[in-house]
Amino acid sequence: MSDFLMVTDLGIEGLSRLIDLAGDVKADPSRVAGRLAGAKIGLFFQKPSTRTRVSAEGAAADLGAHPIVLRNDEVGLGRREAVEDVARVLDRYLDLLAFRVFDHGDLVAIARHADAPTVNLLSDLSHPCQALADLQTIAENRAVAGTILTYVGDGNNVCHSLMLAGAMSGMEVRVAHPPGYAPLDAITEEATTLAVATGGAIEVGTDAQELVAGAHVVYTDVWASMGQEDQAEERRRVFAPYRVDEDLFGLAAPDAIFLHCLPAHRGEEVTAGVLESPRSRVFDQAENRLHAFKALLLHLFDAID
Ligand code: CP
Ligand code: NVA
Repeated sequence: MSDFLMVTDLGIEGLSRLIDLAGDVKADPSRVAGRLAGAKIGLFFQKPSTRTRVSAEGAAADLGAHPIVLRNDEVGLGRREAVEDVARVLDRYLDLLAFRVFDHGDLVAIARHADAPTVNLLSDLSHPCQALADLQTIAENRAVAGTILTYVGDGNNVCHSLMLAGAMSGMEVRVAHPPGYAPLDAITEEATTLAVATGGAIEVGTDAQELVAGAHVVYTDVWASMGQEDQAEERRRVFAPYRVDEDLFGLAAPDAIFLHCLPAHRGEEVTAGVLESPRSRVFDQAENRLHAFKALLLHLFDAID
């Protein structure tokens, strides 16, 4: 059994198989119902969550596993108890540890001190479970390889996972960010290397109009992530030219779809018109968090046919 801290942990073939499995699980949930009977899955949240918590808890239940949700005001990760001690204790009770944390380093420490698979439910560095649902949603609309996806906004956790997952899937991933808000160089470099292997491409720049032109998928995320609330005002000013509005979305391919990991702030990173347009797939994308997480659990428990 392995960990899932970054989408790259799956490998290129593994990611492709997992997206196919997520599609199969969505088409026929009964095929895998109850398959993880008896397993106990911990879901820990150091930050708020709607989609991740409910999709993960629901996925575990559908597979017959027992989810146990832990909140940080109970656990006090790194405050009430050392991160490595929390990991070692939970490892004695649970078959899988899934954590949403501020500091990705905490996830690495948990994975190191627990034998059970450790899953990243979002960290400051990445949001790999989201990227699985993103790819599944794209696959429902067009062939993933060769897709041009433009991410507009902050070079954040969601952007990082999308760059890596897109590069692993042969996509051309373009990132349009305000000056000073680029994705981490290390992620851009890793994604670029992966893209060479798959026939994909990575382009990072600040000209949103140029980078959205001709895209098949336009994607954005909040301007201020959880934990950056004190920067929200400054970010509203800096990111305003990067709002996905009808004009910007209109530069994409005529049949382009719009994606957003949600929660969305209408009138900030996206207009209500784009979010609610017939070409928006954001609620399919949210639904796919459930199917993709089931596929991930089946993979991590080696419970695939
Ligand atoms: N997209 C996403 O992860 O949503 P939540 O923060 O509500 O879990
Ligand atoms: N970038 C956002 C994603 C929320 C799902 C955050 O980290 O808050």
